[in-house]
Amino acid sequence: MKISVIGCGYLGAVHAVCMAELGHEVVGVDVDPNKIAMLNRGEAPFFEPGLPELLEKLADIRASGRLSFSTDISAARGAQVHFVAVGTPQKKGSNAADLTYVDAAVEALLPVLSAGDIVVGKSTVPVGTAARLAQRVVEGAPGAILAWNPEFLREGFALKDTLTPDRLVYGVPAGSDGDAAVAALDSVYSVALENDTPRIVTDYATAELVKVSANAFLATKISFINAMAEVCEATGADVTQLADAIGHDVRIGRRFLNAGLGFGGGCLPKDIRAFMARADELGVDQALSFLSDVDAINLRRRTRMVELAREVVGGDLTGKRIAVLGLAFKPNSDDVRDSPALSVAAELASSGAIVVATDPEAIETSRARNHDLHLVETVEEAAAGADAVLILTEWQEYRDLDPETLGGIVGNRAILDGRNCLVPSQWRDAGWTYRALGRP
Ligand code: UDX
Repeated sequence: MKISVIGCGYLGAVHAVCMAELGHEVVGVDVDPNKIAMLNRGEAPFFEPGLPELLEKLADIRASGRLSFSTDISAARGAQVHFVAVGTPQKKGSNAADLTYVDAAVEALLPVLSAGDIVVGKSTVPVGTAARLAQRVVEGAPGAILAWNPEFLREGFALKDTLTPDRLVYGVPAGSDGDAAVAALDSVYSVALENDTPRIVTDYATAELVKVSANAFLATKISFINAMAEVCEATGADVTQLADAIGHDVRIGRRFLNAGLGFGGGCLPKDIRAFMARADELGVDQALSFLSDVDAINLRRRTRMVELAREVVGGDLTGKRIAVLGLAFKPNSDDVRDSPALSVAAELASSGAIVVATDPEAIETSRARNHDLHLVETVEEAAAGADAVLILTEWQEYRDLDPETLGGIVGNRAILDGRNCLVPSQWRDAGWTYRALGRP
């Protein structure tokens, strides 16, 4: 099929490249000329494992023009399916989602649509958005049809999640338009469907809610275990053992029960806030009031980490040298949007500490967000003479650190494990003070 993808960020660029890998003819469109130039050169504009390799593998397809990128929306003309994959960030000064980019993408698409084209929303939007946009499509491009097909990809696993999704959700209108949208999406996803990927065909509102409720559930699961971590801290219990023990109950499950600094990134934090804002508009704010606790528990972990650092350096952070290992919101990503690690590093610095921070991939993205942080390339530079070392993102290379080697570099053997990713006994046996969230 001929497909266009509007928006070439973490979601859209991966979607475009994966659709080409599945054999479709794809054009990706974005307003950022820099991003488009990089993609056309076969370079990934952000860090995502496997993406540079896949762009390389598709070199011939790119050369033939069957995977191309453009800043000109008219390049989307002639495609049968148009995916809208632009961002829906948190609105400034509000909890609600900023729909400016989604609205602009749909408006820009209208003149290039032909009757029978399917516009497929992928962005995470407040419930009710699809119905509103469907009306715009009816008015502005007669015969074109809107569908909503939420995306559940995780950064770091984006290619796998796109090529082999665990489910497909289609929100479609009733009647023959809905049938046409389902048929088009089935053709797009024929490979996944042949592999028995579950497919749920539903209305717009349910499709929109599937996405935000999935993210709300995941955020709640993380904040649940972090709430248990707070109780563990008050009682001397160990939240990692607690998570293992309750996780054996298949009704609970062990995944997404890792206590630590909590969730960040471009999705979970802003999605639960936008969900609450939308519930408020719908008059069902009470139904989601628990999400404000989920948010608060999550943010308290960052404060607790700063307190722990203050404690281990003797009560006053002023002039203390703190090594921060990890800035990305999670490993295998260069994304620092609402990153707990970056926020703790900034808070320590504003409390008077001399923070020296590093990350395997997120130095440039951190610099773009925080000019004041002292950023270095290596663990050795970060840890030299440190009064305390903080692990804030659980990159494998930090899990693998050797207590003796690192001990030879630091000024004081004190380590704070913000992600419960180290084996405490290994560090204590090597003479380190080991502290963590939710662990004695
Ligand atoms: C999330 C959803 O998982 C994905 O389905 C959706 O499409 C987009 O939002 P992502 O933002 O890539 O994906 O990150 P995710 O892997 O969910 O992690 C989110 C945050 O939670 C990270 O900061 C991570 O460190 C944290 N986390 C995750 C925990 O603190 N504990 C856990 O047990 C799991």
